[in-house]
Amino acid sequence: GKGAALVTAWAYRLADQTRQIAETLAEFRLTQEQLMEVKKRMLTEIQNGLSKNTQSTATVKMLPTYVRSTPDGTENGDFLALDLGGTNFRVLLVKIRSGKKRMVEMHNKIYAIPIEVMQGTGEELFDHIVTCISDFLDYMGMKKARLPLGFTFSFPCRQTSLDAGILVNWTKGFKATDCEGEDVVNLLREGIKRREFDLDVVAVVNDTVGTMMTCAYEEPTCEVGLIAGTGSNACYMEEMRNIETVEGNEGRMCVNMEWGAFGDNGCLDDIRTQYDTAVDDLSLNPGKQRYEKMCSGMYLGEIVRNILIDLTKRGFLFRGQISETLKTRGIFETKFLSQIESDRLALLQVRSILQHLGLDSTCDDSIIVKEVCGTVSRRAARICGAGMAAVVDKIRENRGLDHLDITVGVDGTLYKLHPHFSRIMHQTVRDLAPKCNVNFLLSEDGSGKGAALITAVGCRLREQEQK
Ligand code: GLC
Repeated sequence: GKGAALVTAWAYRLADQTRQIAETLAEFRLTQEQLMEVKKRMLTEIQNGLSKNTQSTATVKMLPTYVRSTPDGTENGDFLALDLGGTNFRVLLVKIRSGKKRMVEMHNKIYAIPIEVMQGTGEELFDHIVTCISDFLDYMGMKKARLPLGFTFSFPCRQTSLDAGILVNWTKGFKATDCEGEDVVNLLREGIKRREFDLDVVAVVNDTVGTMMTCAYEEPTCEVGLIAGTGSNACYMEEMRNIETVEGNEGRMCVNMEWGAFGDNGCLDDIRTQYDTAVDDLSLNPGKQRYEKMCSGMYLGEIVRNILIDLTKRGFLFRGQISETLKTRGIFETKFLSQIESDRLALLQVRSILQHLGLDSTCDDSIIVKEVCGTVSRRAARICGAGMAAVVDKIRENRGLDHLDITVGVDGTLYKLHPHFSRIMHQTVRDLAPKCNVNFLLSEDGSGKGAALITAVGCRLREQEQK
């Protein structure tokens, strides 16, 4: 009768809805062939970044860092470090002792950078940074000591030496004016001068490089650094003869790849979805950092949110009601995605997380939301792995080896907090670079410790030059 017809209609709608959701998410499920293609394209872009003729227009910039060796244990002294560009801004005191009882001791303090400062003028930003340093020195009771300082500045910088780096462009959430095209070490020194105290800025360091150096301090086979956090990037020890933008052919130098910009020439367009485009269009830097926007913590939640909005519009979620919360940029931080995807959580708990975010969901809604999150983060982990496969295979080829054993130092909130990202990424590297045995080592505070290690080397080199 009528009831049976209604039930049939309802079952039909449900099946249709399930199919449409599956179709929407299918675009995010890359095949092995597609991943191999991503790896191959990354290798092409790496080559473009290293070669003299193509370097100026290359998307993956392959920036020289003037770090020519990993630590050897003789590093020694007390150093200040700044860490700008990750989840938190921090000032650190790092004490490194060499010899039999090698050790590193750290003290740090986290400071907030208000969004008005991140996106205000450069002078305001650097004044704020210097105020924080000054507060830290007071707090540690060491205003008078003129310590050497390493500046972990996690943005693309064109370096001409260890202590000079011109900001190419801001990435992630930063947009302070009058900094792009300027030497950030100078900006910092000027800020210090304005406050009438004295500091000795020795090195500017990318977070990937700090991470690699920290892990290399414990494990000498570590010659790659990876950040899977707010942003996504990698560095590795490249042969000097391949770095055509720096004089000299002997030995190796660490190259900051800035792989976040991979795809900015359109070479990933075939795997980008309408949701990736939407996230990009609404970002602070449209058209830039397209790979990063597919695989880093700052953007995964945004991709999820855009999918949820679309599914809601099509009537598959939240009873078709797009709430104010869902319209809010940035609601799904990495920590929420990580919670939602945790296997230990029952569906009810997922629901309560969504509730907490202000999203009124049914049980069916929370199943769908969890699936969306899982699909987006899985793609992120796999394309990140494809990039890393390109890097380790490049190193293997450089050394003319059939088999390479190598360690990658890793840091970043996505890698550390997410319940599945690291495992899926590792597996992808294994699948796509079968001739490499890659060991991933979690870095303990790479940005602080690594900057101090590099500063120690910088101080030693400077003393040698003065002799
Ligand atoms: C962004 C920055 C890069 C940094 C990465 C991770 O991609 O451009 O310099 O290493 O984020 O923090």
